[in-house]
Amino acid sequence: MFKHRGPRSGDRRLPRFVLRHFGYARFVQPARTKPLLFEVFPKLEAELPWIPLAHRPTAIEPCSAIGSWLGRREGVFMKRDDLISPIYGGNKVRRFELVFGKALARGAKRIVTVGGIASTQVMATVLFAKAHGLDVRAVLFDQPLTRFARESVAGYALAGAELVYGGGYASTIAKAVWAQNRERGNYFIFPGASGPLANVGYVDAMLELGRQVERGEAEKPDVIVLPTGSSGTMAALALGVAYLGWSTEVVGIRITSKVVCNTYMVRRLVRATSEFLRKKDPSFPDLADKAKFSLFHDAIGEGYGYPTLEAIVGAEKLEELTGARGEVTYSGKALAGLRAMLATPRYAKKKFLLWNTLSTTRPPHAGGEELVPKSLQWVFEKPVVA
Ligand SMILES: Cc1ncc(COP(=O)(O)O)c(C=O)c1O
Repeated sequence: MFKHRGPRSGDRRLPRFVLRHFGYARFVQPARTKPLLFEVFPKLEAELPWIPLAHRPTAIEPCSAIGSWLGRREGVFMKRDDLISPIYGGNKVRRFELVFGKALARGAKRIVTVGGIASTQVMATVLFAKAHGLDVRAVLFDQPLTRFARESVAGYALAGAELVYGGGYASTIAKAVWAQNRERGNYFIFPGASGPLANVGYVDAMLELGRQVERGEAEKPDVIVLPTGSSGTMAALALGVAYLGWSTEVVGIRITSKVVCNTYMVRRLVRATSEFLRKKDPSFPDLADKAKFSLFHDAIGEGYGYPTLEAIVGAEKLEELTGARGEVTYSGKALAGLRAMLATPRYAKKKFLLWNTLSTTRPPHAGGEELVPKSLQWVFEKPVVA
């Protein structure tokens, strides 16, 4: 299995000025493997911007360590995208191979992005941008304050991001427009980075799983479960399942509002990703209507980022599985949703694969607090909710 070698939470082995100006990512082993999609559809390799970030394939392991809590000791596995890069894992890495490929091909000097104070997308952006010599400006919006959010904000600053406090959604949009248009050479990544180009990374992830099943390294799952926000990951996995011709159901545990995360939006993303691939290589089959997915709505609680009791326990259980504590926004709720599904008769005999989308590698954050602008110092002063 691929071994985790990235720095852990609070790691200060590299001096702060080195972290800020060069990023620790420059000191870790680069990725070398290419997407399988490029092997199967060589035209895509010629057409798509791409840089290597992911260490593939990621392992598949049983979840038996938390079997008693899940109520099932067998038939539940985990795809370890949490370990996909020693720089930072999770579900942004496969997508950023294409997004950063495009930014670099355009000659971008700086990435501008938007996310919540606990955004893994902002973290991934800062770390991979710095590794490629790009600056980052991130506009951060409010979400319930957790320890994970605190460490994230300190980590963004320590990794060299310029932070702008966005506040509520309306002022965040205004500040994001300002942040993007301040100078030339800025490349904008939308919250969630769920556009068709990025999604190609997760269509490829399903081809990877298909190969693992073919080689007998994993069993074909009946159900794939993952936390779902902007829905790009789930839409791409569903399209990938259709490509493999499997009957596997992709279930997104909804962690954000129904206004942005709903069946209509997911279907649109499936279609847009399929059309995009077919435009780049017409031999990619038209499968948009064959993609099967559903959303699980009962784990979200009060809303995006709000802790639920089940999500708090879920975050602890993730630590039992991976060695790194989960958080309440995505991983805790995904585990809570998975447990609830396993308890229903409909899923009693089904084989599950939990797609782990949260990085187990945690970048350093100690000392970052002092680099955070005044407008965001409240993150270190107010009490946390989880
Ligand atoms: C850890 C984690 N899991 C899942 C998701 C949801 O992915 P998507 O926005 O593609 O639905 C995110 C999104 O940022 C995330 O950070």
